[in-house]
Amino acid sequence: MLLLVLGTAAGGGIPQWNCACPGCSGARAHPRRRRRHASLAVRTDDGRWYIVNATPDIADQIEGRPELHPGPGPRQTPVAGLVLTDAELDHTLGIARLREADSLQVIATAPVRQALLERLHLDDVLAPYTSVTWRPLPRRGAALLHRGTPGLQISGIPVSGKRPRYAADAPDDDAWVVALRLYDPASGTTALYAPALAAWPDHFQQAAAEADCVIVDGTFWDDDEPRRTGISDRTATGMGHLPIEGPDGTAERLARLSARCLYTHLNNTNPLVDPAAPEHKRLARLGVEVASDGMEIEL
Ligand code: MLT
Ligand code: MN
Ligand code: ZN
Repeated sequence: MLLLVLGTAAGGGIPQWNCACPGCSGARAHPRRRRRHASLAVRTDDGRWYIVNATPDIADQIEGRPELHPGPGPRQTPVAGLVLTDAELDHTLGIARLREADSLQVIATAPVRQALLERLHLDDVLAPYTSVTWRPLPRRGAALLHRGTPGLQISGIPVSGKRPRYAADAPDDDAWVVALRLYDPASGTTALYAPALAAWPDHFQQAAAEADCVIVDGTFWDDDEPRRTGISDRTATGMGHLPIEGPDGTAERLARLSARCLYTHLNNTNPLVDPAAPEHKRLARLGVEVASDGMEIEL
């Protein structure tokens, strides 16, 4: 299984257009600290690619990877489709950015699809441009990522009932946010991708314990960070993101797994966006990594 890390930032990116915090200012001064919105590309056995989450940066993210470039036909793309872990704007605004496609395949859970169709009216908006085919992301069992060829299997593991703010009154569902589980029978390897993690339920622990690589929500270093930095009145957990450190922190849990573990979806307030921050040493001691844009993970 081959994964390309296309971006590692939370909503807003780093730098965020209207933000002069130390993280964003640091990234303006040092372009290598820039991070695009969190996203992943996964290669199927027929050599095509699915992009996990369609960020506002998606066209630049495709342009930045030769593997994702079109050709040899004038409008022939190796991008076979999109998989969504949730309906948040930082993971879905890029769908409209791909409207030049002849057709677009989007794999998502039912609540995510409904939010995009009934709240954002994506089907109505995109119909004059391209034809969108929706496929369900199964919560139990597994579906083939690429129909017709045996190969990568995908499923969504519910990790949060948090709805996007634009769909705050939409029906309850435990699969508003899922962790994407990717299993490759050819290599026998499993990856788990959870850029938003509001809780660590038993079924998530089980999937993480069985995985070879776990990439999780590293939005905030600690629970109070959003309040301390003045970006929100809510805590990290109140915003649907388990922090890295503290009583509900994910770092110690990751350290106990045998998988290769990495953080992604870093907010610009997270001290980890500064490569010199001492928090990096703390994670290194635990054997947990911080994903970076452009990283390739072969399993
Ligand atoms: C989140 O990860 O919590 C959302 O993307 C935040 C947002 O953009 O509103
Ligand atoms: Mn987000
Ligand atoms: Zn900032």
